Amino acid sequence: MERTLLLIKPDGVMRGLLGEVISRIERKGLKIAGLKILKLTKDQGESLYSIHKAKEFYPRLIRHMTSAPVAALVIEGPDCVRAVRRIVGSTNPQEATPGSIRGDLALNTTENVVHAADSVESAEYEIKIFFKPDEILSYSKPAAESRHHTSTG
Ligand code: CMP
Repeated sequence: MERTLLLIKPDGVMRGLLGEVISRIERKGLKIAGLKILKLTKDQGESLYSIHKAKEFYPRLIRHMTSAPVAALVIEGPDCVRAVRRIVGSTNPQEATPGSIRGDLALNTTENVVHAADSVESAEYEIKIFFKPDEILSYSKPAAESRHHTSTG
């Protein structure tokens, strides 16, 4: 079972969009295996976005991400890195498809409501920034086939 990291950014938390974002994840059928609200330290922000260190927007990004609380979620489900990226939409909300979180709920690239890991490797790295192993609980149902097998003995 694949896992990914989703952050609801300070703008999303301050606008009261926690329920809206979480509900889209749940309606898709994905499970929330870890969940916390925290204020990012500068170190956590810099670890999360180390690949953007040289970019022009980096100082603005770190300032925003440490400005107010974020929600951190570990999401679990088949192919969930890709599934969550599709639900989140393109980085620039003006280019994000309507129906995606950013397409529906955001206007600018820094305050784009959510962050989602872009690969299984990044997800593993990013989850470790925010969660200890015992803070993540798996409770996904077995696949339909094995459920049938169990119910018929
Ligand atoms: P996120 O998915 O969190 O990953 C990096 C973040 O940098 C991105 O969302 C944006 O919020 C932010 N950012 C700001 N400006 C840019 C830009 N020009 N290109 C890409 N990301 C940007």
